[in-house]
Amino acid sequence: MLIKVRKGWELQESAATPESAFLNRRQLMTGLAAGSILAGMGSFARPALAEVPWADAQRDDPSFPLYPAARNLRYRVERDITDEETNGKYNNFYEYGSHKEIWRSAQKLKIRPWEIRIEGMVENEFTIGIDDLLAKVSLEERVYRHRCVEAWSMVAPWTGFPLRALVELAKPLSSAKYIEMATFNKPEMAPGQRQFWYPWPYLEGLTIAEAANDLAFMVTGAYGKPLAKQHGAPLRLAAPWKYGFKSVKSIDRFTFTDKRPKTFWEEVQGREYGFWANVNPEVPHPRWSQATERVLGTNGRIPTVIYNGYGEFVAQLYDGMEGERLFM
Ligand code: MTE
Repeated sequence: MLIKVRKGWELQESAATPESAFLNRRQLMTGLAAGSILAGMGSFARPALAEVPWADAQRDDPSFPLYPAARNLRYRVERDITDEETNGKYNNFYEYGSHKEIWRSAQKLKIRPWEIRIEGMVENEFTIGIDDLLAKVSLEERVYRHRCVEAWSMVAPWTGFPLRALVELAKPLSSAKYIEMATFNKPEMAPGQRQFWYPWPYLEGLTIAEAANDLAFMVTGAYGKPLAKQHGAPLRLAAPWKYGFKSVKSIDRFTFTDKRPKTFWEEVQGREYGFWANVNPEVPHPRWSQATERVLGTNGRIPTVIYNGYGEFVAQLYDGMEGERLFM
């Protein structure tokens, strides 16, 4: 079943609902978190909460009461949001396997305690727990397209905060040019990390200018709840103008540096996966076309759009960089 995306001119839920009702709904969700049984929830009920097989893990997440957050209507997608269960059962998370059905295996991921290291070219290196970080930022919902390099796509209602807010917290030195972002490296809770031929941990990077762009988003939740483990809880990136492999999951380290990071997929197969990886239908992957994409949850294909449709936000970042492999 597809959820209808609210059109830009329609009101967001927090605006359309009297504030008291909106707040009551939050309290109800908090009540659900505590396991209370509520009769007669009427229009406040959120059936999806109980429906997805991983809902219990989300209710156990200490950040559960922070959700849902109000939607930021600046980021509009004129396509249906991908159904939550379809999205949560078709994932790329090599730490849990190189196939798509990793959601059960990903429940092994332990997301508390979760310490995040900020290091490298910053005023002062520090470590911060995910709940302390959440207390310092303000959460919003953004509906983003996601285009995987494998030519499938989906639309997700992510919740999180701009990556720029994290950069500001980190206070990078002016000499820093890039942010390297790393996934945890704990083979005991991620069987895929025992596959020694991969260069763990999964590593990705952006330039500081990309990270400061409005679109770059740190994701902590989705579908009005804490992020499901298979999507990369408790903290992942969404860089929707780039192929999906840039959107690194379950991050526990940010390193500010003046050297362009060598990313996981560059290390594995640099001829096919580069640092920039901006979406472009006219630049084929060496082994397949990038002209169209299969929309998750449908049998249809649609044309792929340059920068995945986000050119107005990001195209200017690449002015004068024609010599770079921008689209691979
Ligand atoms: N991050 C880590 N740590 N490990 C991965 O295997 N896969 C990437 C990206 N982030 C990946 C990752 C790829 S290829 C894609 S398309 C997206 O995550 C998939 O995100 P989703 O499973 O939430 O749809």
